[in-house]
Amino acid sequence: MKLEFEGRVALVTGGASGIGRACAWELARAGADLFVVDAAAEAQLAQAENLLKAAGGRVVSFRADVREHARAAQAVEESLARLGRLDLLVNAAGTTADAPLWELSEEQWQLVLDTNLKGAFSYTQAAARHFRRARGGRVVNVASIEAGRGRFGLANYAASKAGLVALTRSAAAELGRYGVCVNAVSPGFIRTPLVERLPEAVRERAARESALGRMGEPEDVAHAVLFLCSERARHITGAVLNVDGGQSL
Ligand SMILES: NC(=O)c1ccc[n+]([C@@H]2O[C@H](COP(=O)([O-])OP(=O)(O)OC[C@H]3O[C@@H](n4cnc5c(N)ncnc54)[C@H](O)[C@@H]3O)[C@@H](O)[C@H]2O)c1
Repeated sequence: MKLEFEGRVALVTGGASGIGRACAWELARAGADLFVVDAAAEAQLAQAENLLKAAGGRVVSFRADVREHARAAQAVEESLARLGRLDLLVNAAGTTADAPLWELSEEQWQLVLDTNLKGAFSYTQAAARHFRRARGGRVVNVASIEAGRGRFGLANYAASKAGLVALTRSAAAELGRYGVCVNAVSPGFIRTPLVERLPEAVRERAARESALGRMGEPEDVAHAVLFLCSERARHITGAVLNVDGGQSL
């Protein structure tokens, strides 16, 4: 039986850890070939590549910092050269640098905006140039429920994710005529290295806050991302799907 994403190639940024790696894993299990972009150390990237290869498909890893705009076009070129095509883009690379507004440095602001927002812009633009010519493609951006609310210490992060939601909608409006769908998922607290560095009390509060009373797992987000990448979502574009167990209610 043909797997759902057999013959498809997915570029996943942030694919060496957490949510990005879970998306890459689930896509690989569903038959996709993968082009993984991440700034992680060589050893971590190689480990992720080996893990993903165990799912059966072809995997190419590409070490790059998504803040470097020109690398995005190189990544797309390389994925076309090495894997022959590009169908799906998942922008999952992201970071935090939390501080109250009165202590937030320019560097902390810039790091988070450049990684979470400019990085997604660069990769979406590079992929869109190819998708327009190919007259089809899917982009899924990993935003956050913090895009729509105010939380202590998260001014830079919330601004980056709100910008990412706006980028998602504008890209959807521009690219629809070329058969390209652009959507976002907004996770609540998900058990990954990014939140594991937060105090236990903060994580417990997040779990209590959610209607389902639990913290999400990376695969919970990956399942939503795969749906948005699939043919079943062919009439959905410009949408933002919360994957938060009801944390934002
Ligand atoms: N974990 C959560 O609770 C949660 C909630 C909402 C949204 N998110 C978003 O999900 C995405 C993935 O986060 P995660 O929780 O899996 O974290 P993670 O730290 O496990 O994974 C992030 C990955 O992105 C990579 N990365 C970071 N900066 C990069 C850069 N400049 N260039 C290239 N790669 C870079 C890291 O090396 C890492 O592999 C992020 O965009 C994050 O904002 C996470």
